[in-house]
Amino acid sequence: MEKSTLPRHVGLIMDGNGRWAKKRLRPRSFGHSAGMNAMIEVAKRAKELGIEYLTVYALSTENLINRPKDELEELFNLLRKYFSKHVKQLYKAGARVRVIGDRTPLPEDVKKLLDDGEKNSPDGAAFTLVFAINYGSRSEILNAVNLLRGSDDKADEAAFASKLYTDGLPDPDLIIRTGGEVRLSNFLLWQAAYAELYFTPVLFPDFTPAEFDKALEEYAKRNRRYGGL
Ligand code: FPP
Repeated sequence: MEKSTLPRHVGLIMDGNGRWAKKRLRPRSFGHSAGMNAMIEVAKRAKELGIEYLTVYALSTENLINRPKDELEELFNLLRKYFSKHVKQLYKAGARVRVIGDRTPLPEDVKKLLDDGEKNSPDGAAFTLVFAINYGSRSEILNAVNLLRGSDDKADEAAFASKLYTDGLPDPDLIIRTGGEVRLSNFLLWQAAYAELYFTPVLFPDFTPAEFDKALEEYAKRNRRYGGL
């Protein structure tokens, strides 16, 4: 794939783990675990192709409020596993992790693993895997508004963007959602202003690198005009 038609930053809404597990008469946690494996493979593919940032929606603020306690605990366990074990492969490949979202209500040990995951990332990496955890765009935007309220200066786009969790990240060029729903669900609303959107019915655990390539091929065909002709 040519570099010029490759997105620099891809956002990924990983939906469909629960349905994938249900089809196999297995608990939802089985689907999340398979989802984590799918995510690891897609991240490898993204890095190999030269994509610079992949942001994965691992837990929304709404998930944290509405999912049963035991399912949340399973998701935290996956985070524990990823950030204590798998992340090392990423470092070895010279890549970084970053976490966006409100970490305050997360279990203390998970918070520490996320903090360490960022701190221990190698410098100047060509690929960053960004985890959106307890992330919600509306609260991110409100938080930015509150941070700017003390200033008398009129906020411009750059000043506003610098108060978002994504400060320093380029806007996503492509957002992919698996699992058949056709909505953004409070994911990167400000940042996705000009993103191309790609929706697929494939349930996330079945979203292989080959499925990811399909999304990239579709992106390469689209003509991005940013409001011009
Ligand atoms: C939505 O599927 C998915 C989630 C709420 C969690 C996504 C998390 C992963 C793929 C694991 C990621 C990796 C780590 C390290 C946490 P759903 O359960 O809503 O699926 P459904 O719509 O079929 O019920």
